Amino acid sequence: MNVHDSEKVIGTLLHEGYRQVGTVEEADLILYNTCSIRDKAEQKVFYRLADYKKLQAQGKTFGVLGCVAQQEGEKIFDRAPHVSLVCGSASYRKLPEMLAQLEAGQVEKKKIEAARSETGERETAKLVRITGLDDRQTDECFETEFTARTNPYRGYITIIEGCDKFCSYCVVPYTRGKERSRTAESVLAEARQMADLGYSEIQLLGQNVNSYKDPAGKKSFAELLAAVGEVPAIRRVRFTTSHPRDFGRDIVEAIDTVPTLCDHVHLPVQSGSTRVLDAMQRLYSREQYLERIAWIKAAKRDISITSDMIVGFPGETEADFEETLSLLDEVGYDSVFTFKYSPRPNTPSLSLEDAIPDAEKARRLEMIMGRQREIQIDRYKKYVGATVEVMVEGVNAGRGQWIGRTSQNKTLNFVAGGGAAESTATSKPRSKATDKSALSGGAEGSVRPTQATSTETDQSVCPAQLVVGSYCSVRVTASFPNSLVGEMI
Ligand code: 5AD
Ligand code: SF4
Repeated sequence: MNVHDSEKVIGTLLHEGYRQVGTVEEADLILYNTCSIRDKAEQKVFYRLADYKKLQAQGKTFGVLGCVAQQEGEKIFDRAPHVSLVCGSASYRKLPEMLAQLEAGQVEKKKIEAARSETGERETAKLVRITGLDDRQTDECFETEFTARTNPYRGYITIIEGCDKFCSYCVVPYTRGKERSRTAESVLAEARQMADLGYSEIQLLGQNVNSYKDPAGKKSFAELLAAVGEVPAIRRVRFTTSHPRDFGRDIVEAIDTVPTLCDHVHLPVQSGSTRVLDAMQRLYSREQYLERIAWIKAAKRDISITSDMIVGFPGETEADFEETLSLLDEVGYDSVFTFKYSPRPNTPSLSLEDAIPDAEKARRLEMIMGRQREIQIDRYKKYVGATVEVMVEGVNAGRGQWIGRTSQNKTLNFVAGGGAAESTATSKPRSKATDKSALSGGAEGSVRPTQATSTETDQSVCPAQLVVGSYCSVRVTASFPNSLVGEMI
């Protein structure tokens, strides 16, 4: 979601006349998009900001965007006094206005300093500071009209922002504000526009994508999903992240009915113990979660299931942890993202007792990863001999293989046309002006070279005339715990 937020910010600023540059050194304005979901991510932000300080003498302006901005607010000015702008993710709509204010303030500052120097005063005027932190109660979504999409074949559409769930460990409801959905009509208009621009894969995004409620009351989430899947020229539709509490059977029915909807559901469980789920305020029990898994498994299509898990939540006993391990076996996930519980500011679980020592969290993390690895080895093996469609994502020059992605979101590396892939891949030519640019700054997620730039090349070296973003059929010949290997047929 953060990457897509950056795309929206970049697009909006390009439309305002800003130019995106490739390096921090070239930039006058450096906007750093941040994440505060876990402590480690937040720490990194302050290290990076300290790093930027040495560029202040060159007259650069610094802004902090995203969840750390929202969470820390004006405290950022104390910890990083060279920062001039702090803007939370719920206030991006106001960013152009805030930047204009900042620029006007800086012009004023220069005038004051010039007048002072005429009278012999050396003192510099105060740094202008602008904050945008108060929009979390808004009903409006950030305008996506000018999004600068960085991937030339897969486009993201945020359909719902914010979160009303308030899991006891999570900062998101505080940093991103209350849930607000876009109308199904505007989502579909954007999907059609993307199809016209040549995108063939759409990913619908939301903290809880399936809590979507059409403000115009026309479509449920499953209906919207199906409608996006029926947009002509769209070949794949993904959605993330789903909350188990709001996961209805109608979503599985939509996947069964509309072939373009991908065979993949990411359904974070967080813990296999109902006792811990209660303490996490997840609003479902192990049994209710498993009921949703049963619906997914009962589908006509083979739907891949992935999840997120947190280990070492305060008070998580060995028996609770065993239940998480047994859930891995019971569900048979294709992939699990595992995290050590990280206490976050302002969250209810911060005051819970029985903290788990870090070494124990690390042990539990290792155990989950070890068990899951075995499960994946077995699961991935089953695809050997099968023929699957992949979208070509790039090339691995070292291995002489193309990199493909299956509908189930598995990586499938393959050789094509009887020959190995060479060190380059082709990419669809794009006509959008925004493809040429790169926003100033070196922020994670906010500055990425376009796919076109990183893979663009000479078509003649591709043995099978493969193009990044195209689709082909591949027969799986071998498997690893995290990927498949095959030959194009
Ligand atoms: N500690 C550890 N993991 C967390 N997540 C969210 N908040 C925390 C936290 N405080 C994890 C959850 C979520 C994923 C995006 O990040 O597993 O699904
Ligand atoms: Fe955080 Fe829970 Fe909302 Fe997910 S559902 S964003 S974990 S509060």
